[in-house]
Amino acid sequence: MGRPYKFIDTISKCKLRNASILDLNALRKLEKESFEKDAWPLIDLIAVLTFPNVIRIKATENNQMIGFIAGDPRPNDGVGWVATIAVDSRFRLRGIGRALLRACERELNLPHIKLTVRASNQAAISLYEKEGYQTIDIWERYYNDGESALVMEKTL
Ligand SMILES: CC(C)(COP(=O)(O)OP(=O)(O)OC[C@H]1O[C@@H](n2cnc3c(N)ncnc32)[C@H](O)[C@@H]1OP(=O)(O)O)[C@@H](O)C(=O)NCCC(=O)NCCS
Repeated sequence: MGRPYKFIDTISKCKLRNASILDLNALRKLEKESFEKDAWPLIDLIAVLTFPNVIRIKATENNQMIGFIAGDPRPNDGVGWVATIAVDSRFRLRGIGRALLRACERELNLPHIKLTVRASNQAAISLYEKEGYQTIDIWERYYNDGESALVMEKTL
């Protein structure tokens, strides 16, 4: 991403800023802890922290990463995809996921935001619905263990 991003969310009070390859170890730990079945392999984590145009924002407390979101802009389709979002389990339900999502939407700056979520992931679905996302499709057996994905969309 071109321009630096630094922001303090007024509700959750967490600090949000661009993530970089220097955050690889922290992101790896966060992903492992947050995604029992779907933690990304190292190569994907390196990609998300380095590929041009990817939106990558971390939430920090005492300079430690406590949350992360990545967004993948597809300007030709007018769509930005939320690629991953996670908040450290010790810091959940404090509005940090919402702050990350809103920041990512702002930075993507496209008319439609889409994402996929496991059909059983009530916490994430609840966050997305409260933030205005609607289920527009179901991708059957999308995940490795056979679970389906909800495709959710928000029109800004
Ligand atoms: C999904 C996740 C990012 C939410 O982060 P969070 O910081 O706890 O979310 P927030 O505190 O911002 O919650 C925002 C809203 O979502 C709802 N929500 C979040 N977690 C919830 C839960 N476990 N149960 C019910 N509602 C929940 C809250 O009710 C909240 O609304 P409210 O403030 O009006 O009450 C977090 O649970 C997480 O990291 N999960 C593991 C990784 C994951 O599943 N990522 C999503 C992949 S698609």
